[in-house]
Amino acid sequence: VKPSTVDQARYRASLEIARASAGVLPVIAPEVLALPVPICIQSAAGARLVDVDGNEYVDLLMGLGPLVLGHAPQVVLDAIGEAARDGLQYVVPNRWQEPFARLIVEEVPCAERVLFCNSGTEATMYAMRALRAVSGRTKIAVFEGSYHGAHDYALARADADSPLDAPTVSPRKAGVPDEVMATMTMLPYWSDAAFDLIRAQAGELAGVMVEPAQGANPQDGQVEWLRELREVCREAGVPILFDEVITGFRMGPGGAQAAFGVVPDIATYGKVLGGGLPIGAVAGRADIMETFAKHAPGTYPADREAFTTGTFSANPMSMAAGFAAISHLRENPRLYTHLRSESDRLVAAVNAFCDAEDIPAHMNQCDSMFLLYFGRLRPARTVRELQRAQAEPGPSGQPLSVAADAFFGHLFDAGVLGLGLHHMHLSTAHSREDVDFAIDAMKRSFLAVRAAGLC
Ligand SMILES: Cc1ncc(COP(=O)(O)O)c(C=O)c1O
Repeated sequence: VKPSTVDQARYRASLEIARASAGVLPVIAPEVLALPVPICIQSAAGARLVDVDGNEYVDLLMGLGPLVLGHAPQVVLDAIGEAARDGLQYVVPNRWQEPFARLIVEEVPCAERVLFCNSGTEATMYAMRALRAVSGRTKIAVFEGSYHGAHDYALARADADSPLDAPTVSPRKAGVPDEVMATMTMLPYWSDAAFDLIRAQAGELAGVMVEPAQGANPQDGQVEWLRELREVCREAGVPILFDEVITGFRMGPGGAQAAFGVVPDIATYGKVLGGGLPIGAVAGRADIMETFAKHAPGTYPADREAFTTGTFSANPMSMAAGFAAISHLRENPRLYTHLRSESDRLVAAVNAFCDAEDIPAHMNQCDSMFLLYFGRLRPARTVRELQRAQAEPGPSGQPLSVAADAFFGHLFDAGVLGLGLHHMHLSTAHSREDVDFAIDAMKRSFLAVRAAGLC
């Protein structure tokens, strides 16, 4: 917080809570959530949030993705209420997990078996373990610019100054052993150089993990490359894992693999799948997923069986909420039509405005996920291109990333919650009026940033 720039009276209650929190909480919000003021939320409904001071916001964060039906959708509230009356947690199987898994198997092309867990982080951890267990190999390849969660293996990231066509790996932050990083391979995203690296290391790779559309830079121009990547992996005898934690059930009930027509061997889920409650899932080919099977001893030799267990995995609350939300989406395909058309309208309006006003900013988009960045390159295809574009100086001599910070500050003041470090989303609850409100706030924010000489 920069107290001098914040209207203390407008955010009095939130600021008090943030000050008190600092004494007991090392983290009060996820790292990507660099909001201009550390607001605390009182309530949320539909597309809007209200903070503890009574300020209202049109939300473009939507809980970082899960809330595809908006805040507090009735269909999910009803399911949770009914389930809660029958008990919160059993550990013994509940009545939702089998039909829910069956629904996923019916909708997701690669899914023959489903393992439920509690977060996207757990899902990628289990999926990587399964790939290692069945192959007996250690290395997992990931792509520059990706995000796969917060466990140690997932924190592999590319060194920013390493060669573009052969990036090197180091951990995102402290506390991750070098030995863990030595089990990871970094590949360049949306680049044919990745194919040669996979072929060269084929004998060592337990799997290749990729976000079909990267959360840090969502687009859909990479589909042909993704299709080729799938084929290269097939030829090399290396399973490919799609991390669909963001795209799963957001791009339609079959996720990115159905929308793009590229089917992986195994995939991970979270976010939208839980209807707003914590969830994760791994879905994939039976011969891989059976490494977790307890009911089929002998499917794999003991040294190829992978461990999975979690107190809250497949808990009744998450199962009931997720099953209700996904069933509702499946029965109402027009919800996806609305989501896509309003997202297209927002992105087209913002990009047309930036072109007409000659503002060096652009939105990249994949379906209902979009990212706004400041830079002259359009589109920036990779995260490295994106970072370079934002580092270029604006008219004031300061990097364009400063213009981005100022932009999101103005947008916040105008009553819209958005982020430049993470993509934004719409939900089916965003009305035409909500989207118009956001477009208008963005246009005014661009003009304010230009008036300040930053872009
Ligand atoms: C593609 C992807 N994978 C995995 C994760 C981790 O999910 P979670 O935050 O539920 O642990 C995320 C979270 O943003 C994600 O975007």
